Amino acid sequence: SAADKGGWSSFMAKEVSEEPEAVANTLRGRIRDGEVVIPELDGLDDLFTGISRIIVIACGTAAYAGQVGKYAIEQWTRIPVDVELAHEFRYRDPVIGPDTLVVSISQSGETMDTLMAVKYAREHGAKTLSICNTQGATIPRESDAIVYTHAGPEVAVASTKAFVAQVTALYLMGLHVGRVRGVVPADEAAAHVAELEAIPGKIAQILEREQPRIEQFAHWMADTRSVLFLGRHVGYPIALEGALKLKELAYIHAEGFAAGELKHGPIALIEPGQPVFVIVPSPRQSAEMHKKVISSIEEIRARGARVIAIAEEGDAAVLPKADEVLRIPLAGPFFEPLLAVVPLHIFAMGLATAKGLDVDQPRNLAKSVTVE
Ligand code: G6P
Repeated sequence: SAADKGGWSSFMAKEVSEEPEAVANTLRGRIRDGEVVIPELDGLDDLFTGISRIIVIACGTAAYAGQVGKYAIEQWTRIPVDVELAHEFRYRDPVIGPDTLVVSISQSGETMDTLMAVKYAREHGAKTLSICNTQGATIPRESDAIVYTHAGPEVAVASTKAFVAQVTALYLMGLHVGRVRGVVPADEAAAHVAELEAIPGKIAQILEREQPRIEQFAHWMADTRSVLFLGRHVGYPIALEGALKLKELAYIHAEGFAAGELKHGPIALIEPGQPVFVIVPSPRQSAEMHKKVISSIEEIRARGARVIAIAEEGDAAVLPKADEVLRIPLAGPFFEPLLAVVPLHIFAMGLATAKGLDVDQPRNLAKSVTVE
């Protein structure tokens, strides 16, 4: 009913508007004096001290959250992190054991593929930690440790606020592990914590400043048959997530690519008028990566692509290169994905809405897939 939607046109619109709170609530009670302290992990240091690798398993959007998390967790903890789709994991006799921490991510906590992978990991001696949005769900009950995301109930089939909460929980976990293992200096950890605490306000800014414009583009693009998404580094899984949302909601062909891969194949797809979203990395963090992505934009634009760039405020270099620039506030290294994803959620929702589709109940999909 409209009441449940709190006056919003759809649960998805409501849930996108709740992305700031999803992050804020996931942080709440887990930061003390600039340090990450996760009460649920009290007394569980053993899970983190004896390990030499982390494998993240999940499906769908949760797996893209895992791919985002990999970069920061590896950097902060110096533990190698692999991300694997849950349904691929257990059928290849993975090399796991007591030195492996398997981190599962699931909004519902009931996804059968993910549950079976967690059980497999336990049976093969790995330690297991569940990042889950649903209290008391099956996957957390089957795990050695739980870090709940506090995004609140997510009703729309396509996951949005849970995604930003999952990335937040992974970063909290990474900082927790870094502290327990003594590898992240306190001042550095405090800087990351400050970045996390600033995210809700920055997401709110994007919703306020850019949402109407993005919905307008989506409306103009209602007849588009294919959209491509390019990203690099932490922007790469965001490109994948942007494409997934468009497939799920608007039923159009959409594909995400690593920007560096363009010349190894995908550039052949570029025809005049092809819309391409490009997530532009911050020039403050890597002038080199920024330059490379700008040159990718030049290459596709020279072939007629219509480029919609997602770039940080003040990045002037991107302006003359792209057809449209969507701005996100400045953020520290690893934190931009929590911002860059927001315009893509809005875009997919806007395009599906412009096509007259039901964004809460896309065809053929279920919110929670409880069969293998
Ligand atoms: C389904 C949903 C997706 C979700 C995936 C994983 O496919 O349609 O939106 O990302 O399941 O769900 P989970 O509950 O495990 O996060």
